[in-house]
Amino acid sequence: MPPLKIENFIKNSVLELSAYKINEVESGEALKLDANESNYTLSRNIKKKYADFIKDTLINLYPDSGSKNLIRLLEKFYGTAAENFIFGNGSDELISIILLSLKKDVAVKIPEPSFSMYGIIARYNDLKTEPVKLDEKYFDLPENISGDKTKDKNSKKIFFFSYPNNPTGNHFNRDIIKNLLENKNNIVVVDEAYIFFSNKESFIKYINKYDNLIVLRTFSKIGLAGLRFGMLFSGNKLINEFKKIKLPYNINSLTLSSIEFFLNNFGEFDKNIKKTVGQREKLYSALSKLDYIHVYPSDANFLLVRLKNKNLKNKFDKFLNANNIIVRSFTGDMELFYRITVGTPAENKKLAGYLKDFGAL
Ligand SMILES: Cc1ncc(COP(=O)(O)O)c(C=O)c1O
Repeated sequence: MPPLKIENFIKNSVLELSAYKINEVESGEALKLDANESNYTLSRNIKKKYADFIKDTLINLYPDSGSKNLIRLLEKFYGTAAENFIFGNGSDELISIILLSLKKDVAVKIPEPSFSMYGIIARYNDLKTEPVKLDEKYFDLPENISGDKTKDKNSKKIFFFSYPNNPTGNHFNRDIIKNLLENKNNIVVVDEAYIFFSNKESFIKYINKYDNLIVLRTFSKIGLAGLRFGMLFSGNKLINEFKKIKLPYNINSLTLSSIEFFLNNFGEFDKNIKKTVGQREKLYSALSKLDYIHVYPSDANFLLVRLKNKNLKNKFDKFLNANNIIVRSFTGDMELFYRITVGTPAENKKLAGYLKDFGAL
């Protein structure tokens, strides 16, 4: 029998992709600072109460994502009515739902650099992506981003703004975002995955003012990455369309129970968020003292650093590898950059020590 001709079935945009690579860590020895997770584990007391709470979850039934208790807690937490949010299996799934719903002539505008999934998902949905180059010094959006003065004035666009931006750690200019929202040829997605670590106000309160605004949130970065729970907020018009394509039981029962429990015990996370912000500033000053890297200020739970001398790249990569330090590295224009998650005090101290040693080599 002849082999299957995969290209007769699978679209080119998928054939051209490589599978997303996740760093696998073998032992607990590695300094794992690559995925912007929280490295704080639950306190013993909370762990016990949590186990007690979820043990009665009815896993024999399909999940009830309309559970009154959970909905009421989320409405209160985000100050929004339930009709204006949907849940996703992580905000990744919500990015996918947004992009799945779009017509092919909507241009997907993505800052560069930013979170890679926007572009990956757009491409396998056969949408055209258009990079928005950030300014090299502060990584802000260009003033002329709206393109109003160009011939494509009426073309439809969707903008994805990670706010604060991954991997640069800064917030984009709010006025530029608001100007884009004033133009109904645009949809603007404000992805607030890291907003717990910043002191900027959420855009959620504008969803009823701007019907072309979508806000994404997640609990992944504050200590619940394993639960996979994200939320999409939007005015009625857009959200009613997304509700049609969201799979009915996309969030499992254990996650729903867990979120209910943790919203009732949010102090556990508040404490760690504050610690992370304090640690970020400490790590920022420690790394700023090293003369071979430049450290960028950050409002998120990670720091972006750049090697000042490109001749150090190979040696630095080898050093990280030899010492089991896992951080996010990049390719192409970004090859001298590294994104480092802010870890626990012990991890940050260890990391700062290693990076100081490298400077002395
Ligand atoms: C900007 C941004 N948005 C969304 C996500 C995905 O989050 P989730 O775990 O909710 O899928 C990430 C994860 O790294 C991110 O950096």
